[in-house]
Amino acid sequence: TNIGVFFGGRSTEHEISVISASQAMHAINRDKYDVTPIYITKQGRFYTGDALFEISNYRNIPSLLEKCTEVYLKPIYGDYNLYRAKTGGLFGAKGPVCTLDVAIPVLHGTNVEDGIFEGVLETIGIPYAGCDTLASANGMDKITMKMILRESGVPVIDYVWFTDKQWFSQRDELIAKIEEKIGYPVIVKPANLGSSVGIGRAGNREQLIEKVDIAQKYSSRLIVEHMVDNLKEINCSVLGDCDEYESSVLEEPIKSAEILSYEDKYMGGTKGAKGMQASQKRIPAELPAEMTDRIRHLAGETFRVLSCHGVSRIDFIVDDDTNEIFVNEINTIPGSLSFYLWEATGLSFDKLMDRLVQLALK
Ligand code: DAL
Ligand code: MG
Repeated sequence: TNIGVFFGGRSTEHEISVISASQAMHAINRDKYDVTPIYITKQGRFYTGDALFEISNYRNIPSLLEKCTEVYLKPIYGDYNLYRAKTGGLFGAKGPVCTLDVAIPVLHGTNVEDGIFEGVLETIGIPYAGCDTLASANGMDKITMKMILRESGVPVIDYVWFTDKQWFSQRDELIAKIEEKIGYPVIVKPANLGSSVGIGRAGNREQLIEKVDIAQKYSSRLIVEHMVDNLKEINCSVLGDCDEYESSVLEEPIKSAEILSYEDKYMGGTKGAKGMQASQKRIPAELPAEMTDRIRHLAGETFRVLSCHGVSRIDFIVDDDTNEIFVNEINTIPGSLSFYLWEATGLSFDKLMDRLVQLALK
């Protein structure tokens, strides 16, 4: 079985995806599987080659790509082939570079994790690990995610949502609705972006207007949420499909003030690329047993009602004043595929990769 690991892509989380994919590719049991890396550039071009296994090679992308072959994915007679992009011949004079049996997308963020890439795989028909287009899209869009969860009885923080056009035409009504339904302070977010892009806190009406003006530059769909003052973040990973799934032990991320960029950390450079937050984690999180059980249950419910597949990570907010638990977001392709949570639960990284392949081929 040849596993095609797809990563990179047209996303602000491109660099984090390179790290996650590198970890995943090295974890796959090579006695059992072959692995083909497929790196998607920020321009959306696909490359393959052995040089893609080595994380330090990503310090210099042009020189990395020179060592690789540009390819495209095409099904021929039931095989899913990678063909050389530049051959001159219709199907490539030299035949396919290789044939894939299953795809594992290790892509994070908008334009990739939101179902767009899964749509490409669906179009071709190749079996793949993880959520389908619907679950991915619902998971990425904070508005549809909350609507589905709320409808299903999974607790989410109170919110008001609107489009940029509504904000321009009905601003006073929307402000009144936000003030009545939520009250300050609030958090303003573009509905479909991760990595804190375009997100702002507002303590009064003036700030609300200011923050919405910023957020609407990033998305035409906007969401304003109640801000919990005293909170704990707790994460839980879920593995399986919507009929049969299990929840991992819990993680409490402890964010440090220092922000390291991916380039600082892995590329030896100083260009302030999209930041990877230097973070520590407490695994398992130290919580009362009852709360732990409830969070693990709600993580499973979230996975189920969003019709997820493969491995996801659900991020919770616990209100320290009231002990209320809310689902804050879901990552349908979580950083590092959440392997560290599965290791702590008793499933090694190579077994996790094995499970993802088996789920994809089921
Ligand atoms: N979207 C990043 C990779 C995560 O939260 O896991
Ligand atoms: Mg995310």
